[in-house]
Formats: sequence, C-alpha cells, structure tokens
Amino acid sequence: MQAVDKDEAAKSWEAEWSLLPHGEASQIDGITLEKQTCSLWEKIWAFQARPDDLLIASYPKAGTTWTQEIVDLIQNDGDVEKSRRSPIQQRQPFLECTRDPQPKGVDQADAMPSPRTLKTHLPVQLVPPSFWEKNCKVIYVARNAKDNMVSYYHFQRMNKRLPDPGSWDEYFEVFLAGKVIWGSWFEHVKNWWRKKDSHPILYIFYEDMLKDPKREIRKVIEFLGKNLKEEVLDKIVYHTSFDVMKNNPMTNYTHDKHLNYKLSPFMRKGIMGDWKNQFTEAQNKKFNEDYEKHMADTSLTFCMEP
Ligand code: A3P
Repeated sequence: MQAVDKDEAAKSWEAEWSLLPHGEASQIDGITLEKQTCSLWEKIWAFQARPDDLLIASYPKAGTTWTQEIVDLIQNDGDVEKSRRSPIQQRQPFLECTRDPQPKGVDQADAMPSPRTLKTHLPVQLVPPSFWEKNCKVIYVARNAKDNMVSYYHFQRMNKRLPDPGSWDEYFEVFLAGKVIWGSWFEHVKNWWRKKDSHPILYIFYEDMLKDPKREIRKVIEFLGKNLKEEVLDKIVYHTSFDVMKNNPMTNYTHDKHLNYKLSPFMRKGIMGDWKNQFTEAQNKKFNEDYEKHMADTSLTFCMEP
C-alpha cells in the first residue's frame, strides 16, 4: 500500500516539474544572467559587505558546494552536527539569488549576524564594489572547462530555474560562445585569476581537491587563519568526500521542487575527465582550438586529463 502511495507521489511530483516553465535569461553589462537577477540588479550592486565577510566565488558547477561545506566545517572546528544545522544555501547566502519562494540572497545576508560566509557565481567585474572596499577575503574555486561544461549541461537539464539547455550539441556552441548564465567560463576564470594580484583571494582548483583533498583543505584552513588538529582535518576530509556529501540532505540539494533528480542528481559523478564520455572527437578538436585562443593571454593552467 505504502509503495503505491510513494509511486503516486513521485508521479504527481514529476508531472508538476514538467509543467514548471524554464528560467529566462537577460543581461547586465553584456553578461548573461537570470532575468530575475537582472531585475534586482541595483539592489545586488549596492549590497553592503562587512570587513569580516568571506566570499566563496566560482563559475557554476566548479565545486562550489564542496568548497562551501569544507569552509563551514572549518569554521565549526569540524563539528559535523553544527554543520548539519541547515541546508548549505541557508548557512551561506547566495548573493545574486532572487528566486521565489526563497528569500533573496541579499536580504538573507543582510539579516545575518557577522561573521558571514556568502556565495557568488558573479564574474569579478560584477561583484558588488563594497567587497573590494572592505577588503573581504575571497576563496575562488575553478574547474577545467571541459568537465565544467558537462556538469553545467546536466545541471541545466534538471534545473527548471535555468534556461532549457537544448541538445548537447546546441549547448556546446552556446557554452563556447559564453552565452550561458553567468557568462563565459574563459573570462570568469581569467579575470578572477588576475584579481588575486591585488586582493586577498585564495584560488583553488577542483582537480587538486580531488587529487589531494587534505592538502587543499589545509590551504583553506591557513587562509582562514585557523589552527586545527590533524584528526579534525581528517574528519573534514571524510565528511566532505563525494559519497558522504551525496547522502547528506544538507548538501545534496534534495527537496527542491525545481530540480529533477531522475534526470540527473545534483551530486552527479564528482570525477575528473567525464568530458570524454560526452565530447565527440570533432567537438574536442574545436574546443581545443578555441581554448588555445582564449587562454593565450593568461598564466592560468588546468588539468583536464585524469
Ligand atoms: P558533476 O556534475 O561533474 O558530478 P557546484 O557545487 O559548483 O554546483 O558543483 C557541482 C559539481 O561538483 C558536481 O559535479 C558535483 O558532483 C561536484 N561535487 C560536489 N561535491 C563534491 C565532492 N565532495 N567531491 C567531488 N565532487 C563534488
């Protein structure tokens, strides 16, 4: 009897999801953003950062949630129960998020006592100027473009808040042209990389976190000025591993009716090199040519081969 009820519930939920409209896009200063973000742009731009704010910034699908959970556990000295106090999006407001029925990221942040940790996917030139004026610390996490693109494609398929990605072949072109929400991957990673020369930014890489999570978490601990025992560090490594976070309702974004987990889970694969399962040979060739052109003016390098 219960199984039937569950089936029915799943069916009616899926029917509800399929009726939701896809999100729309608009632009601010030539950067494609969610239409709702653009509508609230003046308020976002005027956001007042505080000197002890920590900003976690990234291109979408670069390992933001992973970094957020690591930071939260470090701030709570590895106390897992404290980090499970609420979903990650409530613990660390998403600055440019304006999605109903969630409170707007800026309102949520305004109402929060210090010290705050905030999340953004904004390209560096669109970050509210008060963050630079107040000299806030920033952690930027970057992921190689090919895996980042594949992860973003699957996320757009299951997330009705974002525009319909269309077919993979269509998405490939839109992504390379920098017309996805939050703009060009190339400009995003390069401009944040440049910014770290004049601002306290810890720039980390998804691939390094996969390869040696302990070493990368140590870097974050040091950047935050914390001093944690080795056993606490080990605990953080364990609790931020892919499988543990996938099963943690406070980090896996379940219970969001805009996301369809049957199409693709939020915590999808968590690996490096998945692009090899998605790119055709021709796409890889075109991508490599474009990549070389876009990345010719930066010292920034990425690891794409597992
Ligand atoms: P995949 O879609 O390739 O699996 P973001 O948090 O920026 O949206 O990034 C989501 C991506 O990071 C997803 O990539 C997700 O699986 C991966 N991810 C999240 N937590 C992770 C973890 N603890 N270890 C490895 N990958 C993780």
